[in-house]
Amino acid sequence: MGLGRLGQTLTAREIFELVKKDLERVEREISLESVASVDAVTTISRYLQDGGGKRLRPILVLLASQLVGGVSDGTIRMAAVVEMIHAATLVHDDVIDIAKTRRGRPSSNAIWGNHTCVLAGDWLYMQAFQVALRERNFHVLDVLIALTQMMVEGELLQLERIGKIEISEADYMELVDRKTASLFSACARLGAVMGTIPGAASEALETRLGEFAWNLGIAFQLVDDMLDFTSHEKVLGKPVGSDLREGKVTLPLIYALEEATPEERLLVGTVLTDGNYDRAPFAEILRLIQQRHGFDRVRERAQSFTERARAIISEFPDSPNQRAMSALTELVTERDH
Ligand code: IPE
Ligand code: IPE
Ligand code: MG
Ligand code: MG
Repeated sequence: MGLGRLGQTLTAREIFELVKKDLERVEREISLESVASVDAVTTISRYLQDGGGKRLRPILVLLASQLVGGVSDGTIRMAAVVEMIHAATLVHDDVIDIAKTRRGRPSSNAIWGNHTCVLAGDWLYMQAFQVALRERNFHVLDVLIALTQMMVEGELLQLERIGKIEISEADYMELVDRKTASLFSACARLGAVMGTIPGAASEALETRLGEFAWNLGIAFQLVDDMLDFTSHEKVLGKPVGSDLREGKVTLPLIYALEEATPEERLLVGTVLTDGNYDRAPFAEILRLIQQRHGFDRVRERAQSFTERARAIISEFPDSPNQRAMSALTELVTERDH
């Protein structure tokens, strides 16, 4: 399938081809900027970077820049910045979640311990800000600082809600907004700012691309929370059933609980109390969500967000980049990891 053909969906490979060269520059930038005067930090940063990851956030920055004008040096730096912030949140998140696996390998906390990882995460955040500061652009700092606070507040709110079965859909959506969609949105906005000739950056354009990525981010997390139940550790790179085991009641379960019998509620409550599936087997929880249409409803919900994202991107003139962004929305809902 050629990129020149109109009205056709791009494959993941074709999207990747569009950003491949720039993404290589981003990787070099991350490597260069992850060197600390203390070895532990450098080692952990390298370990995370080498561990893979989909690089969705830097790809969003690059595509947004390309869509509005072109990739600048600032775009490359900003793409590195968002991946470093993402890496920092993952390091801290795995400490909080007592996670053992990330990107198919032992998580950094499992290797270096909590104390080192908290500090390495702090260092990574600060390094990301230092790189961002080179733009001498207060708007960029505004976006990044507001974003980081949003994300940290999200993790704090999530902590408060751990182990609670009475989580509403609105509570859940608030967390998804903070934890994931806000970063996606910031990626597209920063891409828009960096891709436009200085001074010509249209606020409306930035806002619109931000809305596109926000919707994409919500769909991404909804799918992530579904995959936590339905995928396999080998594909996902992290164990399945983790969310409920960690005390997090996510949307598939929230929907299922709405229709559940008192016995079924008790089953879910047992996992929340025990923190394992010994007394309430994972297979039974899966069956319960399936029977109570939890997955079907979340899939539909995720689709509605990707449709909104696609509608926004269809306002832009047709181009390979525009189609790549549109195709990205389908990849997010159809992904398996
Ligand atoms: C993981 O994000 C954290 C969530 C928001 C679910 P990704 O699934 O994008 O992680 P990597 O970077 O590809 O490992
Ligand atoms: C996502 O949190 C990480 C952040 C955005 C802070 P989760 O706990 O839901 O993600 P995974 O499942 O560990 O990747
Ligand atoms: Mg986690
Ligand atoms: Mg978490």
